[in-house]
Amino acid sequence: ILATTKNFSLTLVPVLLVVTYFLLQKRSSSNALPPGPLSVPIFGNWLQVGNDLNHRLLASLAQTYGPVFLLKLGSKNLAVVSDPELASQVLHTQGVEFGSRPRNVVFDIFTGNGQDMVFTVYGDHWRKMRRIMTLPFFTNKVVHNYSNMWEEEMELVVGDLKRDEELVKSKGIVIRKRLQLMLYNIMYRMMFDAKFESMEDPLFVEATRFNSERSRLAQSFEYNYGDFIPLLRPFLRGYLNKCRDLQSRRLAFFNNYYVKKRREIMGANGEKHKISCAIDYIIDAEMKGEINEENVLYIVENINVAAIETTLWSMEWAIAELVNHPNVQQKIRREISQVLKGEAVTESNLLELPYLQATVKETLRLHTPIPLLVPHMNLEEAKLGGFTIPKESKVVVNAWWLANNPKWWENPEEFRPERFLEEESATQAVAGGKVDFRYLPFGMGRRSCPGIILALPILGLIIAKLVTNFEIKAPQGTHKIDGFLLLLLPSSSVTIPSSIFASKERSIHEPGK
Ligand code: HEM
Repeated sequence: ILATTKNFSLTLVPVLLVVTYFLLQKRSSSNALPPGPLSVPIFGNWLQVGNDLNHRLLASLAQTYGPVFLLKLGSKNLAVVSDPELASQVLHTQGVEFGSRPRNVVFDIFTGNGQDMVFTVYGDHWRKMRRIMTLPFFTNKVVHNYSNMWEEEMELVVGDLKRDEELVKSKGIVIRKRLQLMLYNIMYRMMFDAKFESMEDPLFVEATRFNSERSRLAQSFEYNYGDFIPLLRPFLRGYLNKCRDLQSRRLAFFNNYYVKKRREIMGANGEKHKISCAIDYIIDAEMKGEINEENVLYIVENINVAAIETTLWSMEWAIAELVNHPNVQQKIRREISQVLKGEAVTESNLLELPYLQATVKETLRLHTPIPLLVPHMNLEEAKLGGFTIPKESKVVVNAWWLANNPKWWENPEEFRPERFLEEESATQAVAGGKVDFRYLPFGMGRRSCPGIILALPILGLIIAKLVTNFEIKAPQGTHKIDGFLLLLLPSSSVTIPSSIFASKERSIHEPGK
């Protein structure tokens, strides 16, 4: 009898544990946590949902669990927001509460424990960095001062494509690489008054290598286990050392080749140093004691991360959609010739070209470059949609789903710039100019993208330049471009230069997945 009782209690213990666990989960749901799949101890939902929590998977989970749901990834909480009203709560109404950024061991290395601006927590340091960066990077005056330089860099691209026609015809060229060089030059001229000679320039090769390795290491799923399950963190040592090593070489590269040079130029001019590029303003702020030497380097690092690839992906997708929609190219050309009557497109007349602007908007809607925005975080427990969001949850807004949900958009899968001049402009008129929280490619509110002021005219200008100089076509035998291959056909010639470029949907420049 004793043996039977012992066996019975042995089987009862795990049963009781499981029942208690699910009762506890139930209790937390009566505490009004957002809904979500049932999680298991230690792993949470990680094993169910996997590593690749991309915007499409999260949109399909939203259809099951609703406009705000919670996933447990090991010890961490991820709240996913998929509705315009709740997005406005996170980004605007409760912008302070949700205005922080989640941290993890890898991002702590790449941001020097939050010495940067993009990934730092909400607070005085972020406010100061954002203020210091605004004057040299994000004002109308900056756009005005640099737009001629942007155009000059774009004309060089057009010139190269025309000059390399034979090469392009026989072998094809990688247009992505050329546009990448153009964007690096635009940003490095603004930052340092310096540029790269060509795609083979050793400094260009090094800068792109450093930046892409940083993105790979920061966005990899490889370190999820140590991020989600603190007990396993010691096993990340090798990975973290790799990150540290890359980051110190990368920051030394920015410092030795660029920042130090600007310091020398400013030093040579003594007290009355002239400020001639963005980093001079930043060094000036350092001299006044507002920030330190490391912060200066992290500003350079942030611009490298936030400004270049995002704008490049948008360009690639715009080109791919233009290839697939020759009628859109035709309409842009017609608009330019009717409105500008032979005058060149410049930054100052872009506003007169609504169809061109609608094309940029539609590209960013359908191919939202950062589909889940940069993750937000609530430093304290908060309320959202009647639910409790536990303190220090990672909160993502599925901006791609907001802009592609058939509940809110007519045939969202279609690339149709006209929607912004037809049904959407009517919606906007009714909304009386209120912010449209279905359309957030740059986010909104405190942590929204300050680079929008540069990115939109740069995108408009490059599309105008390409479309007015070339007829952009798919390779023979290819019907639809999915962002991998395209041919450029100069409108002045019947030859078919080809260029190959790679572009696919990326998830995020974000702390982990
Ligand atoms: C943040 C999108 C270009 C600088 C962001 C965010 C998004 C975004 C979605 C996060 C918003 C949020 O967390 O709510 C884009 C897109 C771009 C682009 C789609 C191009 C098409 C640029 C450029 C720059 C830039 C050109 C700088 C020259 C930044 C910075 C932040 C940021 C500094 C961090 C803001 C903060 O945390 O306070 N961007 N961006 N971005 N972006 Fe951009």
